[in-house]
Amino acid sequence: MRNSDDLLRQAQAVLRANDAGVYTCPGPRQYPHQWNWDSAVIALGLSHFDLPRALVEIRSLLRGQWRDGLMPHIVYHGRPSDYFPDPDFWQITGSPNAPEVATSGITQPPLLASIVRQIHARTPIPAFVRDVYPALLRWHRWLHTARDADGSGLVCIIHPWESGTDDSPRWLWAMQRITPTHLPAYHRGDTRHVAHPERPYDADYDRFVYLIDLFRRHSYEPAALLTHSPFLVQDVLFNAVLYRADEDLLALGRELGEPTDEIVGWLHRMRAGFSARFWDETHGLYFDYDMRAGAPIAVNTALTFMPLYAGLASQEQARRLITDHWLNPAEYAPDSVVRYRVTTTSKTESCWEARRYWRGPVWIMLNWLLVEGLRRYGFKALAEELRRDSIELVRRSGFWEYYDPRDGSGCGSPDFSWSAALTLELLIRS
Ligand code: DGY
Repeated sequence: MRNSDDLLRQAQAVLRANDAGVYTCPGPRQYPHQWNWDSAVIALGLSHFDLPRALVEIRSLLRGQWRDGLMPHIVYHGRPSDYFPDPDFWQITGSPNAPEVATSGITQPPLLASIVRQIHARTPIPAFVRDVYPALLRWHRWLHTARDADGSGLVCIIHPWESGTDDSPRWLWAMQRITPTHLPAYHRGDTRHVAHPERPYDADYDRFVYLIDLFRRHSYEPAALLTHSPFLVQDVLFNAVLYRADEDLLALGRELGEPTDEIVGWLHRMRAGFSARFWDETHGLYFDYDMRAGAPIAVNTALTFMPLYAGLASQEQARRLITDHWLNPAEYAPDSVVRYRVTTTSKTESCWEARRYWRGPVWIMLNWLLVEGLRRYGFKALAEELRRDSIELVRRSGFWEYYDPRDGSGCGSPDFSWSAALTLELLIRS
């Protein structure tokens, strides 16, 4: 067994090995470009042993920002690869807002402001914060305008990739309603590197591609995408991450002496609408909301715990989440088959699959967000248990993209950067 110092060194070595110069690949073969929320947590991990390189990571990501404020989910940085979609597939030059560099045309959960604040709180970097604050503010403003589809203050996503949880069963109904006609020709690159049963189904990919094709035909014009995207969802995870990031942006803005009334307004409206939209009193769970169907998405996944991370649950809602679900062996607590937390989907869901991407496996990223959430609500023992179990999982199996919750074996991409970055975080910030 490796001790903690060994594990720290191993984690650093993974981040060094995946270093592509000015950005870090999430995984060596499967993900050769720069991904938005991956890069944010990679910067957090790097900040523990190479702060200047962490700041380069963030600046490189920001180079992909669109003229209207959108922060894309992938920045390509010109590296040739067999990744699909390749940069040309997005056809972003059809948009007057596209940046100089090649990027995707959709976004991802906005973790970056929270990460900048955390790094700054540990080692003050005032000049850097002053430099990047305007870009962060523009991204958040874009989210609160271009993606506030119903004027409620909550934001929506238009593609499952924007959720960061691509094939989550939360999207099953919405995806089944889409008939992917006139698909452009494409070849999946992912299954060259990872076994098919650990990746999304082909039917999901057809719909992922169908949506991209629709968006590029509308030149990524934000209002047109809200009107025409058949996938339009208010996502609990995305909104929780944004709320917490707005709080962090507010703190940074106040420190800089910037006007912050706009951010206070966003926070006020999100808090006012969050539980009314997402909390289901009967089940005691948070459900995403399908705006096209005009109905909650009643699927029990671990994303239901995410309001804890943002401080958006009441004490009573938090108590019910933990007592009825977290500690329930039929759903999320370990049992004779499932040994590791946190399965991305409740075991009670018929679509639960132990090794398939976001259908069941354990992800270190979710565990880290949930350690933070459990601490915030005073569930200190549960938070510590989850922190230790997560480190133990990595120590046992290595830095995998995700893990089979039954035996802890690795799935997806090996040598995965965010698993390494968050192992550093979980070890050092115990
Ligand atoms: C992938 O390629 O699986 C990514 O999650 C899409 O961004």
